[in-house]
Amino acid sequence: MSSMPADTASTAGDDGIIIRARDVDVSFGEKKILEHLSLDVRRGEILGFVGPSGAGKSVLLRTILGLNAKQGGTIEVFGIDYHAASEREKLSVERRWGVLFQHGALFSSLTVRENIEVPMREYLDLSPKLREDLARLKIDLVGLAPDAADKYPSELSGGMIKRAALARALALDPEIVFLDEPTSGLDPIGAADFDQLIMTLRDTLGLSVYMVTHDLDSLFQACDRIAVLGDRKVLVEGPLSKMLDYDHPWVKSYFHGKRARTVVIPQAPSQEMPSEKSAGAA
Ligand SMILES: Nc1ncnc2c1ncn2[C@@H]1O[C@H](COP(=O)(O)OP(=O)(O)OP(=O)(O)O)[C@@H](O)[C@H]1O
Ligand SMILES: [Mg+2]
Repeated sequence: MSSMPADTASTAGDDGIIIRARDVDVSFGEKKILEHLSLDVRRGEILGFVGPSGAGKSVLLRTILGLNAKQGGTIEVFGIDYHAASEREKLSVERRWGVLFQHGALFSSLTVRENIEVPMREYLDLSPKLREDLARLKIDLVGLAPDAADKYPSELSGGMIKRAALARALALDPEIVFLDEPTSGLDPIGAADFDQLIMTLRDTLGLSVYMVTHDLDSLFQACDRIAVLGDRKVLVEGPLSKMLDYDHPWVKSYFHGKRARTVVIPQAPSQEMPSEKSAGAA
């Protein structure tokens, strides 16, 4: 039951684990970045991935996506070892994930609609009209106004760019999206709106979300589970309560530090977030 071929995709990872990394080692030359790293991402969850700057969060993401080589260990996505997969299997996996990279979210020479159509052109055989219709649906899905379709990235606010990049990540109706610092650079309300959007997508599409973030608000409010990268491996993964109890200097100072304390308090009903109107506006 567990080792089905790629095409029986919707049932693969049928134990509810959509990504299973085990004992992963990644080095650049002599420099070890990740060592014996293990991590699970479960179907339908928003996993927040945190750790100090330079710890290797983006490297792990790129390794999962097959953009970095690894020197040891295994990573299964949908039950498939992508690094060892045939070209055909790789394609089938790539059609099932979407990515919002930390840098270079959109092609600057293409409009929003054209950006969203890029993965469709690459992986799907659709008529131009259908591609365009689908792109417009994605634009609506992420809460952008219809006229954003024909704008270039330079004409958009930071928040709109993040949404447009998310729309592109959703172009192929993926089962999981990888988001590398999706709310960095947004004001707190824009970031909270973005988190709300991610939660809505999880709930309505059953989307799994792997979100690298430094944003404590996102971690506290949007993430179902959190994994912490430190000392070249995942130190701890689990719900927020586990993070708060975990005895490690960085984890303690991160989750109990001054900035964290201002975020933990909002469980009190008085501190509700403003409603989600202001995406990208003003
Ligand atoms: N292609 C590469 N070649 C050599 N070293 C690299 C390469 N990519 C990343 N590194 C190094 O790996 C380390 C981890 O980088 P990474 O970008 O994963 O950090 P990060 O945890 O994402 O940090 P941040 O929170 O600042 O984004 C850094 O020391 C970086 O210089
Ligand atoms: Mg990074």
